Order: sequence, then C-alpha cells, then structure tokens
Amino acid sequence: MAPFLVLLLIVSSLNHGYAQFHPQNEAFISLSITQNGLDFVKELLVNKAISSLISLQLPNIEKTTKIPIVGNVYMVLSNITIYHIYVPSSHVKPGETGISITASGVTCNLSMNWYYSYSTWLVPVEISDKGRAEVQVKGMEVGLTLGLENQEGSLKLKLKDCGSNVKDISIKLDGGASWLYQGIVDAFEEKIGSAVENAITKKLTKGISRLDSYLKSLPKEVPVDDHTSLNVTFVNDVLLSDSFVGFETNGLFIERNPSLPILDLYNKILKLPILCTNSSKMMGITLDEAVFNSASALYYDAKFMHWIVDQIPDQSLLNTAGWRFIIPQLYKKYPNHDMNLEISLSSPPVVEISNHKAGANVFADMTIDVLEEDEVIPVACISLVIQGTGVFKISGNNLVGAVRLNDFQMSLKWSKIGNLRMYLIQPVVWTLIETVFLPHANTRLSKGLPLPILHGFILQNAEIILSTSRLAVCSDVAFTESNKRFSYFIQ
Ligand SMILES: *[C@@H]1O[C@H](CO)[C@@H](O)[C@H](O)[C@H]1NC(C)=O
Ligand SMILES: *[C@@H]1O[C@H](CO)[C@@H](O)[C@H](O)[C@H]1NC(C)=O
Ligand SMILES: *[C@@H]1O[C@H](CO)[C@@H](O)[C@H](O)[C@H]1NC(C)=O
Ligand SMILES: *[C@@H]1O[C@H](CO)[C@@H](O)[C@H](O)[C@H]1NC(C)=O
Repeated sequence: MAPFLVLLLIVSSLNHGYAQFHPQNEAFISLSITQNGLDFVKELLVNKAISSLISLQLPNIEKTTKIPIVGNVYMVLSNITIYHIYVPSSHVKPGETGISITASGVTCNLSMNWYYSYSTWLVPVEISDKGRAEVQVKGMEVGLTLGLENQEGSLKLKLKDCGSNVKDISIKLDGGASWLYQGIVDAFEEKIGSAVENAITKKLTKGISRLDSYLKSLPKEVPVDDHTSLNVTFVNDVLLSDSFVGFETNGLFIERNPSLPILDLYNKILKLPILCTNSSKMMGITLDEAVFNSASALYYDAKFMHWIVDQIPDQSLLNTAGWRFIIPQLYKKYPNHDMNLEISLSSPPVVEISNHKAGANVFADMTIDVLEEDEVIPVACISLVIQGTGVFKISGNNLVGAVRLNDFQMSLKWSKIGNLRMYLIQPVVWTLIETVFLPHANTRLSKGLPLPILHGFILQNAEIILSTSRLAVCSDVAFTESNKRFSYFIQ
C-alpha cells in the first residue's frame, strides 16, 4: 500500500548543523540524507531532466535582417528539435539557503529547418530557399537552487533560483547560398541560445513543481496493518547543513481510526541522531525507542495481547495427565481433563534500546483452565516477567524483529488448587514460552515496521546500529523505476 518517503541518514558531521536547530515538536523518527544520498538523487533528477528534454520542440524563430549586397532578407528557423544532450559534470550541494544543483559543460545538439526569402529591385520575383541545419550549443551552465521546508507537516519544494547560460554555438548548414551562414549566425546565434535556455528553465520549473505536488501528496500516515499506522507527519524545520539534509517526523504509531488519544510519551528530550559508523552510506533513519513503545501501547489498548492457547507442540501439556507429577493435586481433582492456557499481557511490553542491545520486558499472566464439559474452570494463575533480547534486520524496506528468551521470573498470582511447586513448573513454563509464546510474538514481529522510504526506492546494504534509546538504519538505496509518479514527474 503505502508509498513513503524517506530515509534517514546519519552523517558523520551532524554536530555542525544541529547547533542551529530548535525543535518545538518531539520527533521520534528522524531522517537524513548524506552527500552520497543527495548525489544519488541528483543523478536520477539529471537523467530525468535530460530524457524529458530530448525531442523537445522549440518555438520557431524568425527575423528580417539586412545582408550586405543581398538586401533585406526574411529568415525563419522552424522545427527546432533538441535531439541530444550531454552533461559531463553536475554537482549538488546542500547549504543554509537551500540545495543547489549545477550542471556545467553541457552540450546540446539541435536540428532545424531554415528558410529565407527576399526580393530586390533588380529582380522583381521573390527569391527563396530552404534546407536543414545542425546546431550545437556548447559549454552551457545550468544551475538551480531548491528551497525545502516543512509546510503544515508536508514537505514543500520551492524553486528559488534557476538559470542557464550558453557559452558557444556552432552551426552547420546543409545547402544554402554563400552569404547565408554568416547571416544566420549573426541573426540567430543569440536567439537560439536564449531559446535553449528558456526551454531548459521552463522544463525544470515545471519538473520541480511536479516534484513538489508529489511530495505534497505523500500521505501523513503509513498503514502498518488493519489497525495501526505510523504517523509520518513532518515536524520542525528541515535541517539544511553543508553536508546533509535532515528531516524529522512524528514517527509514532497511531490508530488507523484516529478517535483515541494516544500515549503519554511527550516528555522526551530530543537527542542527536546516531552516527552511522560508515559515513559513505546514502542515508539513515533514526528511530527512538518511543516508536516501538507507541506500537506496544497501541496493540495493548487494542486488546490484541490476550490469547487462548489450545494447541501446542507438546499436546500432552494440555491435559491434566501431562501435569500429574508437576501439580499432583490438579490431576487428582480433574483426572484426564483437557486444559487451556490463557495468556494475557498485564501491561504493554517495554522496549529498551541501549548500546549494541535491544531488549523487551513483557509482563504477562498465564491462567491455567480446566475444561469440563462446556465449562471452563480457571484453576491457577502465574505471573510472568519475560526478558527478551530483540534482534533486528531489514527485509525489503521493513524493519523486522525477532525476540529471543533471555530470562524470566514467575510467581503464583492465585490458585484454587493449593500451593504450587514453582521449581517444578518453571522448566515447563520455559518450554511453553520458547515453543508457544515467542513463536506467536515473532510471527507478529516478522511483518515488521515499514520504514518511511519513498515508494520505488529500496534499501541496499543496510546496517543497523543500536545506541542509547535509539536504533538507526544506515543504508544505501537503489531506484527500481517502479514508481511511475516519481519517474515521470519531470516531463
Ligand atoms: C522536423 O524534425 C524532425 C526531427 O529532426 C524530423 O524527423 C522531421 O522530418 C522534421 N519535420 C519537417 C517538416 O521538416
Ligand atoms: C553534436 O554536434 C557535434 C558538433 O556538430 C557533433 O560532433 C556530435 O557528433 C553531435 N552529437 C550527436 C550525438 O549527434
Ligand atoms: C501526527 O503527528 C502530528 C505532528 O506531531 C500531530 O500534530 C498529529 O496530531 C499526529 N496525528 C495523530 C493522529 O496523532
Ligand atoms: C561502507 O558502505 C559502502 C556503501 O554501502 C560500502 O561500499 C563499503 O564497503 C562500506 N565500508 C565498510 C568498512 O563497511
């Protein structure tokens, strides 16, 4: 379903820009695009711009000019078509005023038809001729500056400055009278230059405004499943430093039906993004542990965290006979009865991320039910505190996780069958956690969290870094061309 933008990146030289950055709004997912990432995007944009200019028709140019000896001649250039553009070098540079992109040494080949006519007092009939010409525009500089800002939670792209400059033009005529070459050069050199400049500037302006509409149309919520979305509303100013562009988004999980207020997580102090250890990655995405905790709180609210276990790998544990030696009084009271286990979380799982480690503490109650005819009789309840270690990886553009059991504590909450010998029950519960609880949790976690990446881009060579209370994905991206809207914005 959801397209979305952005990547984060984390850059080696964040300190510089962050000094000027005054957040008013908490941001739990931040994104930054490094110079390498900007270079990658620029290459895409330059290639799109080139292909959109190929076959472009420029307006006809006409002029009446005085040619020595011949007199006043009416000349027209028509069917002026750009058929080849070569951009030997281009650069992108972020800075405080915006992102500037320059292309230099650009050459542009055009073909056109020429036509002239004149009459003189010597010959009373009109004289005319026509033919083809090839023009090469050389050494052109094209530059533009883009402003990027947060406008009510969406990105606004503005063309702040756009210009081009032609250095040299060479013209090759096919046929024509001997005076014609110099006549065309004198009359049209400048006009051809400015026609090409205008065409390029107009195309770029249109392209940027399409790209802007595209950014504006990006949804502020990325659906995660039927019930939840990730709030990817942009918050705070776009951070433009001289080595990267940074964005911040709210980044918390929200209900897809936005009726319930969420989460009291708004008293966190913004921290600097984690640095990618490899600064040549194109981008990084930093997620605060609050993102995971907002998911956890939301699923807890949604009462997803309660389930009845009536099928397990060792099915003998769902009959009192299987517990004969562990809880003898249970077997005695309900011999050979089928059982259920009801597991419910007593509070939302708490995710904690520290250096090199992510962990989750899960507080759960496990109720043992005995089934008698169509009656369910709860007989005992054990409280569990499960400590898991989280492992993260990237699958497609999703951050997926899995939990491994580290340790757990248990205590008897209540019992209708007298005291239980917890040391006997412990290994059984460990097995249940390993074979029932964790696989259930990991099935959910394996769907993962969609990272806010523009549709059509995919993460490559991603690396996950854990730091105090945050997780960063440092990655390169590739463009799959499957995003038609992005591919054709500049036409
Ligand atoms: C106009 O230019 C195109 C491309 O160079 C060429 O294919 C076409 O024949 C030209 N049309 C006329 C009427 O000269
Ligand atoms: C562009 O024009 C130049 C000069 O006329 C010529 O050398 C070059 O081959 C042309 N490029 C293409 C792709 O036709
Ligand atoms: C999404 O985040 C924005 C910015 O923080 C906030 O104003 C908005 O209320 C959030 N949306 C929901 C549904 O919580
Ligand atoms: C850093 O990342 C780049 C781009 O993904 C990769 O080519 C390079 O091998 C990485 N270097 C190290 C030391 O991991």
